[in-house]
Amino acid sequence: MIIVTGATGQLGRQIVERLLTRVPADQVGVSVRDPRKAQGFADRGVRVRQGSFTDAAGLADAFEGATQVLIVSVDKLGEQAVQQHRTAIGAAVAAGARRVLYTSHMGADPSSHFQACRDHAATEDALRACGVPFTSLRNGFHAASAVQFLGPALAGGGEVALPADGPVSWTAHADLADAAAAVLADEGRFDGPTPPLTAAEALTFDDIAKIATQVTGRTITRTTATDDRFRRQLTDRGVPAEAADHLLGIFAAARAGEFSTVDPTLASLIGRPPTTLDTMLAEQPPGH
Ligand SMILES: NC(=O)c1ccc[n+]([C@@H]2O[C@H](COP(=O)([O-])OP(=O)(O)OC[C@H]3O[C@@H](n4cnc5c(N)ncnc54)[C@H](OP(=O)(O)O)[C@@H]3O)[C@@H](O)[C@H]2O)c1
Repeated sequence: MIIVTGATGQLGRQIVERLLTRVPADQVGVSVRDPRKAQGFADRGVRVRQGSFTDAAGLADAFEGATQVLIVSVDKLGEQAVQQHRTAIGAAVAAGARRVLYTSHMGADPSSHFQACRDHAATEDALRACGVPFTSLRNGFHAASAVQFLGPALAGGGEVALPADGPVSWTAHADLADAAAAVLADEGRFDGPTPPLTAAEALTFDDIAKIATQVTGRTITRTTATDDRFRRQLTDRGVPAEAADHLLGIFAAARAGEFSTVDPTLASLIGRPPTTLDTMLAEQPPGH
């Protein structure tokens, strides 16, 4: 049985949806923190069990009978995230999984400017040491994050004030979910870290402001905020300092070119060109 964690989150839910187009429901299980939120999957014949990465004993039940376990990375940072991932990896191996899969990030590296990429690198170290084959899906940067950065500009006067950046291959959740399902359904297709799973072009926020202007018909202007001003804007709005620094890390990493690679692997996995940011913005403009 293929087990997917985080199946009540944005990415995990879509991975299970796409997996169900490739694999019979009775061969799919989900491990979720709140099974009530996965009732829709249970109704369709998916095995739903409760599991949290903070509770290894509970994961033993949630992962029982697993052939492959896909661990969706948690929405935490630093040692807290890595420790939870280690617990999930250990539970997958203890349950007898033949392969452990993990949603990593392009640019995963211990010296990344972006904390999450350092955490993904540490998790990949744990995968290398876990004793069974693993696949680390090095996902492109979620385009949803770029769209979120545009939100205040569209709600206000049209100015996107962000730190200096660099090109980023912003990638759609739906495409990444489709790719994960393809890899799960074709066990062993990738061993170890995948190439970066990215959209076909890398865009700066200058580019994105132009695209948003075309798509929305409103003039969106990108201006450059110093890192300090950006941090202050966030903390003034109640964002905790650690989270503000994490967001700043995205820009520092983009400036260093950590997210600029584009690679054809995602397109080949999903059998179509990846979704463009124009299409995403046209289908779901920020704030709608
Ligand atoms: N590639 C990128 O650009 C990018 C950007 C942002 C985030 N990410 C990473 O990708 C992950 C998936 O993205 P997403 O958009 O689907 O985020 P999301 O909607 O916040 O989903 C995160 C999932 O992790 C689950 N989770 C959190 N803590 C857990 C724990 N202790 N044990 C078990 N499950 C736990 C959550 O469970 P509940 O449903 O119960 O809350 C949720 O299902 C994120 O968590 C983050 O690590 C990547």
